[in-house]
Amino acid sequence: MAEDLINDKDIYFPSYLGTNDKLITLLNRASQTLCDWFSKADKNGPLPFDENFNCFMPSEDGNSEEDLFSEIESLLNNSFNPVHPGSLAHLDPPPLIFSILGDLIAAGLNNNLLAYELSPSVTLLEDSLCKWFAKKIGFNYLSGGIAASGGTLSNLNALIAARNNAGLATNPNSVLLVSEDAHSSFVKCIRVMGLDTTNLVRIKTDNQGRMDINDLRKSLDKCSIENKKIFAIVATLGTTVRGAIDPIKEISEICKERNIWLHIDGSIGGIFAVTSIPIKGLNNINQANSITINPQKIIGITKTSSLLLVSNMSTLENTFNTGLPYITSKENIINRGEIGIQGSRPAEIIKLWLGLRFLGLNGIENILRSSITRKDFFIKNISKNKFDIYSGPLHIVSFIPKKLEQEDSDTWTQTKVNELIKNNFMLSRPKFKGRYFLRVVMGNYNTKESHIEELLRLLDA
Ligand SMILES: Cc1ncc(COP(=O)(O)O)c(C=O)c1O
Repeated sequence: MAEDLINDKDIYFPSYLGTNDKLITLLNRASQTLCDWFSKADKNGPLPFDENFNCFMPSEDGNSEEDLFSEIESLLNNSFNPVHPGSLAHLDPPPLIFSILGDLIAAGLNNNLLAYELSPSVTLLEDSLCKWFAKKIGFNYLSGGIAASGGTLSNLNALIAARNNAGLATNPNSVLLVSEDAHSSFVKCIRVMGLDTTNLVRIKTDNQGRMDINDLRKSLDKCSIENKKIFAIVATLGTTVRGAIDPIKEISEICKERNIWLHIDGSIGGIFAVTSIPIKGLNNINQANSITINPQKIIGITKTSSLLLVSNMSTLENTFNTGLPYITSKENIINRGEIGIQGSRPAEIIKLWLGLRFLGLNGIENILRSSITRKDFFIKNISKNKFDIYSGPLHIVSFIPKKLEQEDSDTWTQTKVNELIKNNFMLSRPKFKGRYFLRVVMGNYNTKESHIEELLRLLDA
């Protein structure tokens, strides 16, 4: 069919004829380029090796393979490198190898999670993997979930469903309760939902960074006096700055008493729930209506990889279903563009599935345990006389010199971050309750005890 239209010299798409030798050569070359970049981190550290990236735009005629590979190399050399053991700033661990392969396969498949007819196997895979997770955390047979591109979108999917479920979808008096340490994505959610920032009610935290239950009760009473309608309470399972876990049991009891949707933002800590690692406060999560789990943040599933799990799938269907008039449906199979905000969506689930199949439960547990071991080692050995330490049961530690004046935290943290990066350690400096802190995130599997010792030595200097 129309073979004369195909010019052999310029094959731009995979061919349905023959063995695609050209594509194989290019993939091999791309793999080699990527692997060379990984190993360059050894002497160059986590920050870009170069600072000379030229963002070339498309030209009149397409560019040669040689041009493109040289630009790919330059792009890589000008990128943050998460595989370096000193990469400890954020929730961006090194990529898991089978997850990289999953991304490649997903790109080649180019299937679309919008609809079953565009992604038959992957639709079933996403449905099954969400149900597997839901079961693991203790939800019943009505449960399930949906993948989304990141924790922010998973949280948004949950809150839209919660508001709809409460019959408050268009009510401007509807409010959301979160702790003062909850992630900034909830500010975005509130804006996207057409609400004012005053509709985001912040509950105080205790000295461990957990939602204060007395303050929660007071705020609930205040809301009813002011005729504000609560569509959800969010409990954070792992806060961004110190990895604290809100008291889920107490919050879930309050939600049951008052018939309020409980959403757990488990973007950081949720994945621990599928293991037997004893994490203080990680219980009763099956009492929630929804929970975000974001495996990209700790076990190395390549970005983006986030799941929203719900205790009852009908809440997502009732909220997002439009009928999708231009798509054919198959009986008893939900088109997955109809249970969340996103329409067209890549088969991101493949890299999660392959990553988890490769690791098995023991591998997941090994990675997570190692992050806690690194955190414990850091806390055990950091000078307690010098630093105030803010940490919870997870793998994140924020710290600041004792008696540092609030206004000096900016300069001190900036100077220290610059000093550390010269020694190939990348830490972050979150602003938290008015002052800056240094933060280490111990989710990097390549970081060994000797690296942490070196980091502590530099901090002590
Ligand atoms: C607790 C928490 N929730 C949600 C998010 C948002 O996740 P994402 O950046 O994947 O949208 C983050 C990001 O760090 C987070 O720390």
